[in-house]
Amino acid sequence: MKSQKQIAQLREYAKHLQNTSIIDLFSANQNRVSDFTFEAAGLFLDASKNRLDKQTLSSLLELANKCDIKQKIADLFSGVHVNVTEDRPALHVALRASSDNESWVPKNFIAEAGESKARLKILVDAIRSGEKCNDYGESFSDVVMIGVGGSNLGPKLVIEALREEETSAMNIHFLDHLDGEKFRDLVSSLSPHKTLFVVASKSFGTSETLRNYESARDWLKSTLSKETSLKNQFVAITANSAKANATGIEKENILRIPDWVGGRYSVWSAMGMPIALKYGYDVYVDFLSGAATVDSHFKTAPLERNLPVILGMVGIWNTNFLKSASLAIIPYEHRLSSLPMYLQQLEMESNGKSISLDGTTIDYHSAPVTWGASGTDAQHSFCQLLHQGTHQIPVDFILALKAAPGYEKHQDMLVANCLAQSRALMLGNERQNNIEDYKKLRGDRPSSLIYMDELNPKTLGALISLYEHKTFVQSAVWNINPFDQWGVELGKAFASSIIDDIDSETSCNQSDPSTTAILARYKALKTGRST
Ligand code: F6P
Repeated sequence: MKSQKQIAQLREYAKHLQNTSIIDLFSANQNRVSDFTFEAAGLFLDASKNRLDKQTLSSLLELANKCDIKQKIADLFSGVHVNVTEDRPALHVALRASSDNESWVPKNFIAEAGESKARLKILVDAIRSGEKCNDYGESFSDVVMIGVGGSNLGPKLVIEALREEETSAMNIHFLDHLDGEKFRDLVSSLSPHKTLFVVASKSFGTSETLRNYESARDWLKSTLSKETSLKNQFVAITANSAKANATGIEKENILRIPDWVGGRYSVWSAMGMPIALKYGYDVYVDFLSGAATVDSHFKTAPLERNLPVILGMVGIWNTNFLKSASLAIIPYEHRLSSLPMYLQQLEMESNGKSISLDGTTIDYHSAPVTWGASGTDAQHSFCQLLHQGTHQIPVDFILALKAAPGYEKHQDMLVANCLAQSRALMLGNERQNNIEDYKKLRGDRPSSLIYMDELNPKTLGALISLYEHKTFVQSAVWNINPFDQWGVELGKAFASSIIDDIDSETSCNQSDPSTTAILARYKALKTGRST
């Protein structure tokens, strides 16, 4: 983090605010709610229940300023190679750029994104209409998207969140886990000849995805008649078309995603195919346009009204100055149940780093542990720890106000419970008299509320874009590259050498005794030999 002066000032503020209760901050400023509520693209952020005041927020924004946030935003949008270790831009904003904001993003990227979307539309429309069908002229009843991480979490989240937009009876399934039982359970309910497999892998080199792909081919071969060709039953979405084609997927069934889109930022690319398949291309476009509205806001709004900047800097405050090591995401919205997992990848794979852009080891914390679950579940499981545990864990509550038609009473309770949790975290009950120690809640636990009138394609796109840019803001302050993920590579290399070991006839030769011992037992069990 640059600017020692700003950091020293914020540390002083933190010392003072550690001893100030949040409710007293409300008493000291009658305008606190409006001062700490920010709005963009149909989203509202109420940050007033955090332990910070106006001078602290100004100082945090000054820190962002000193970390060149404005220049970094300009670089992101203009295609500078911000992903320095992989020497490429990170232009997910180009995928959702519309005529209003396209001047910020270089035209060639917009054109490439446009071509890719046009191909997606043609393929999706053909599948939906039944024009693209199986060998017997039948349309597909089920689509299985095989992919992991960014090639799974975004599409899955959006499919779950926009159920009300359904315009196709096609069932969408996601196959992410390597466990063969998941594969077996999934295919047991499917008709092979009516199932379309979408192999989603930016690299087309992810071993889990390729294993499931191979099992899908084997399953079709073993269940379909010998005359049936498989060529109509596989689509690939990838940046590595050559590799997908080499495995037998027809060129016309390959949707390309640009290599300047990171995996965890790829839901806006052809990776969003299931969204367009299930809900129609217009819904997919609305989803992109919601994100573009936040892009436009992020690019142009002054820092003091800039939603992603404020959300990011509140996070920096909680992590680096109030020393919280974790962030809970609690959506009071069933349709967003997968949001915590989605944000886990976005925040932790982007900013879970300890080497700065200058190549030095940083001496401050970067991404906190991001986790969570949907509201009703959370409050009957881990919220106990949030209220009375020894760790102070800030919470992002997410709430869509509008009720599902006919379920207004459910919604009243949902809203009440969400507000009650954030109020209880803030107030606690220590000020009450005659309360037993074990019942005491200290309160003064920070939370933010992100709310919207309704969850729809546009507000969902806006919400995801908000968190993407929040992550970017934090990376700018932490001075790290949010667009690579080298930390996952070593595990992949080890897995590959362990598989070689499992396949080999000779005894296990892994270098650490623990791995060797477990492998020996595994191999003995597999071959029926005793250890
Ligand atoms: O291993 C991590 C990762 O590379 C993620 O960044 C990515 O989203 C996921 O694996 C899947 O990668 P691919 O789309 O190349 O299969």
